[in-house]
Amino acid sequence: MLLRSIYLSMDATNRLRLGDWDLYMDPIREGKAMKGFTLAEVVSRHPGFPQGSLVAGLVPWSEFAISDGSGLSIVPRIPGLKLADAFGVLVIAGPTALVGLMEVGRPKPGDTVVVTAAAGAVGMLVGQSARIHGCKTIGIAGGAEKCGWLTSEFGYDHAIDYKRENVVERLRELAPPGVDVHFENVGGEMLDAGLTVMKDFGSVMICGLISTYNSAAGDRIPGPYMFRNLIMRRLRVQGFVILDYADRYPEYQQQFAQWMLQGRLKFRLDVTSGIDKALDTLKMLYTGANKGKVLVQSGADPS
Ligand SMILES: NC(=O)c1ccc[n+]([C@@H]2O[C@H](COP(=O)([O-])OP(=O)(O)OC[C@H]3O[C@@H](n4cnc5c(N)ncnc54)[C@H](OP(=O)(O)O)[C@@H]3O)[C@@H](O)[C@H]2O)c1
Repeated sequence: MLLRSIYLSMDATNRLRLGDWDLYMDPIREGKAMKGFTLAEVVSRHPGFPQGSLVAGLVPWSEFAISDGSGLSIVPRIPGLKLADAFGVLVIAGPTALVGLMEVGRPKPGDTVVVTAAAGAVGMLVGQSARIHGCKTIGIAGGAEKCGWLTSEFGYDHAIDYKRENVVERLRELAPPGVDVHFENVGGEMLDAGLTVMKDFGSVMICGLISTYNSAAGDRIPGPYMFRNLIMRRLRVQGFVILDYADRYPEYQQQFAQWMLQGRLKFRLDVTSGIDKALDTLKMLYTGANKGKVLVQSGADPS
């Protein structure tokens, strides 16, 4: 079938696929088409995909693409939700936030939850989900503007600006008994700060390590220096990949869609127009220039 792409999702893993790490997915080699999660419209017929339907999945970064349908799923139109909002929140960031928090982190109401890259696509949803679950939430982000959003929009009780503040000292002030659940999106110094202040028997979710993704396979990435706290604090540390939880997506997508329709969920999209801008737009995730979930609009939005 012929697909017309509408929105490309900019994800940190797009860059990982271009590197030489041993990954959980196929790499993209030089000379091959770049691929990423895309929302597309079916232009020509296919037995499983009616003409005019919307599909999402891994598709080449191009305005039109040919597909046999494998790896694609139909995206239902949700009355009351804009297509960009639904794609931006429900397809990757939302399921990642809820799987990581609820299935892997499993906080109890009243627990203290810390999130890094807290103003980003995944982070802004984790904070609000934890708050709705009755947790105390501390978000860590770079800069005064993003830290302002954490407490005014994204449901965080407290914000820490890692560019200006001593993260360990602030975490100790804000959570004197220690932290129950740490949701890691960045790695490096952030992860070390988190490991330093965990409570006994706390849980550390490794969702992403974006600060390290520009390293080559042979580079020696230092730390975490506080690895010893896995024993001293008897921590549970678990990495996860959202693709392993595909059967749970509908439940989590329904949950987020309901919160969005009820106006209970705040989110920011950062949308750039034009497929020719995709490369520079992807880089924003790595400089922190993005202001929310990053999409590139590659074609007219039928909604
Ligand atoms: N496990 C999974 O299945 C899964 C699925 C989706 C995403 N993820 C991971 O989740 C993380 C967040 O992804 P996202 O799509 O939501 O991106 P995002 O948080 O919207 O954007 C990335 C943010 O990371 C921060 N950052 C980048 N480089 C940094 C550095 N060197 N030091 C400190 N902070 C840095 C920046 O925030 P500041 O401006 O606040 O510094 C930037 O805005 C990524 O690590 C990604 O790999 C994992």
